[in-house]
Amino acid sequence: MIRSVIRGIGSYLPDEVITNADLAKVVDTSDDWIRERTGITQRYRAAPGQMTSDLATEAARRAIDNAGFDPDTIDLIVLSTSTPDYTFPATATTVQANLGITGGAAFDVQAVCTGFVYALAIADNFIKAGTHSRVLVIGAETYSRILDWNDRNTCVLFGDGAGAVVLEAEQGDGTIADRGILATRLRSDGRHKSRLYVDGGPSSTQTVGHLRMEGNQVFKLAVGMVPQVLHEILDDNNVPMSDIDWFVPHQANKRIIDATEQKLGIGPEKVVLTVDLHANTSSASIPLALDVAVKDGRIKPGHLVLLEAMGGGFTWGAALVRW
Ligand code: UT7
Repeated sequence: MIRSVIRGIGSYLPDEVITNADLAKVVDTSDDWIRERTGITQRYRAAPGQMTSDLATEAARRAIDNAGFDPDTIDLIVLSTSTPDYTFPATATTVQANLGITGGAAFDVQAVCTGFVYALAIADNFIKAGTHSRVLVIGAETYSRILDWNDRNTCVLFGDGAGAVVLEAEQGDGTIADRGILATRLRSDGRHKSRLYVDGGPSSTQTVGHLRMEGNQVFKLAVGMVPQVLHEILDDNNVPMSDIDWFVPHQANKRIIDATEQKLGIGPEKVVLTVDLHANTSSASIPLALDVAVKDGRIKPGHLVLLEAMGGGFTWGAALVRW
């Protein structure tokens, strides 16, 4: 059976750090409130003129370097973003050009905060179909561009950044002992659209719009739906929770992560947490967190890693990966 093995990983954060204290000068909020309700202490913001494709390109370069591959051998780029450079072309094709890649294909995926899990599942299926063998999967966002900086309910929660992995086809035995992406589960339910959305777009308002969210409703739904899909992916693959080495959730709110971890009974020592330093970077949050845990030596080859995300749409999903 063909497996998609992660050969390289990289990430990029812009230079500017915005602390909670910085935000308290702009809206009626406080460091205490943001820390207590979300676990966030700071976030990064892209410089004027620095686009999602710029963040994505840097993360991709680092991932390709980490894999030791010639960029030209990448035959597919799947980029997840809700903050593309332009309505079209796809940000993925700009990244492709920035990397000097002229062959293969490149496209964007839109699944908001679940985007990286969607992109990973899509890439895995292309590899398993045998049509592509080296796939770059990127999550990149500049949410600072779609935030309403007068709305304290949302502007304190998000940050900019990008993360990427390089997948390569490898023959596996078809068992859970294989390296690579072992399983993915994708879900969506469009009925919850009004709880988390951007109030603009080319076909509706012809504007970019701002992010709007009923935070506490999203919180409740996240804590309900995410553990369900996680139990499903583990049960379907006969993997007991105790076999999981690392749990790398979407980084939206430390309280959501704590509640999920408790519902799963996975143990806080196995949870990779970066929401404190990165805030919610939407589809970049998982590859950013993975990169931190790989570079600091926590995630090692052979480890079993459980990923999950949930976001606008609603979309949610999970992936089981042997590093
Ligand atoms: O990435 C995928 C999707 N996004 C998420 O997963 C986010 C999910 N939601 C959350 O993380 C949380 O619901 C929030 C962090 C957004 C809010 O936390 P909460 O504990 O659910 O608070 P709340 O919305 O119920 O608001 C509590 C109070 C309100 O005041 P009143 O009505 O009780 O007087 C808000 O106006 O906190 C107030 N508030 C703030 N106060 C200070 C809301 N934002 C702020 C703020 N600073 N930044």
